[in-house]
Amino acid sequence: MRDVVSARARAIEISPQTSLATTDLINLASGTPDFEVPTFVLDAMIDSLRERRLQYTAWSGMPALRRAIAGKLARENALEVDADTEVLVTAGAQEALMTVLMTLLDPGDEVIITDPHYGVYTRAVTIAGGSMVRVPTTRASGFVPDPAAIEAAVTDKTKAVIVVSPSNPTGAVFPRDVLEGIVRVARERDLVVISDEIYEHYVFDDAVHTSIATLPGARERTVTINSLSKGYALTGVRLGYVVAPEPLIRAMLPFHHGMTICAPITAQYGAVAAFEADRNWFVPILAEYDRRRRAWMQALDEVDVPYARPRGAYYVAVDVSDSGLDLPTFVRRARDEAGLQLGVGGAGCLRGSLMQASPRLEEGLERFQTFVRSLR
Ligand SMILES: Cc1ncc(COP(=O)(O)O)c(C=O)c1O
Repeated sequence: MRDVVSARARAIEISPQTSLATTDLINLASGTPDFEVPTFVLDAMIDSLRERRLQYTAWSGMPALRRAIAGKLARENALEVDADTEVLVTAGAQEALMTVLMTLLDPGDEVIITDPHYGVYTRAVTIAGGSMVRVPTTRASGFVPDPAAIEAAVTDKTKAVIVVSPSNPTGAVFPRDVLEGIVRVARERDLVVISDEIYEHYVFDDAVHTSIATLPGARERTVTINSLSKGYALTGVRLGYVVAPEPLIRAMLPFHHGMTICAPITAQYGAVAAFEADRNWFVPILAEYDRRRRAWMQALDEVDVPYARPRGAYYVAVDVSDSGLDLPTFVRRARDEAGLQLGVGGAGCLRGSLMQASPRLEEGLERFQTFVRSLR
């Protein structure tokens, strides 16, 4: 048979999921939260199933859920939105992202992102026909960008700038003045700001999460993406949302409908319960992640391996550029020789994760220390 795969599909590279060779591998790179999902969210989903609520909903999501999201945004983010016209419920942040990019990009349009970045974003921009322009950030500056560097990357083709703060994979949280600088560039160069806030609840030390849409002049050009995945440990339930000005939401509906019709209804019932409640339940969970963060930093300090102090999300950017190994080789050898699963971050840094509990965390960190010493 002739090659029926489209040029579009052939242009996308995807690495196969790595199969874990040894059962004793300790995963120090997981992107999946490991806390217990709050019971009240589970109960809401179970109740909806028992009540046989199993049909399509409105394309943009159940009205009760859009109201709950608007309430959450007002309460937690100081952002007032119209639940009827400015909210679109999606099957996770991933679908939100694809829907946003398919709606915004014409062939050849450029999108700016700071690097290291969540690699899936580049694939999504490519699928949508655009090209990704990366603005490097460094460990020395805590992986926080200089808005002037973003400005310098803008061309006549630039359509949007993507901000992921708190950041996967660097653990950076962009301070308010940096976000204001990005908004200034977006206003002067007429760009859309796509703000992925899925790690908003993970902030440490004195870091504060600011929703970009709340900054002066940002609202009319900001698309905010969020989901249940990280904040509620519900990665497999597939529930996210987009908040944007009404004309953009309207333009997104055909793509959203074309891909999913509507987000999964059971997930939507869980999300109503999740977004209507306050987040006091998360306080001890965040304290436990802070403890793990300190364990990471102490272990790295003990073997003099530099890192960017993680201030947000649940990742640690570990600088192994002095190890004599490139990142993929480091990750492969750490797996084969030390039984460790580590991630490739970027800019000479691995992506470590706080999503490993004691005592496996400590055991994994000891393995890491032994492996690093063996390279010296
Ligand atoms: C920055 C970022 N955005 C989006 C996603 C995908 O989120 P969701 O599960 O809501 O599709 C991830 C998942 O790891 C992520 O790290």
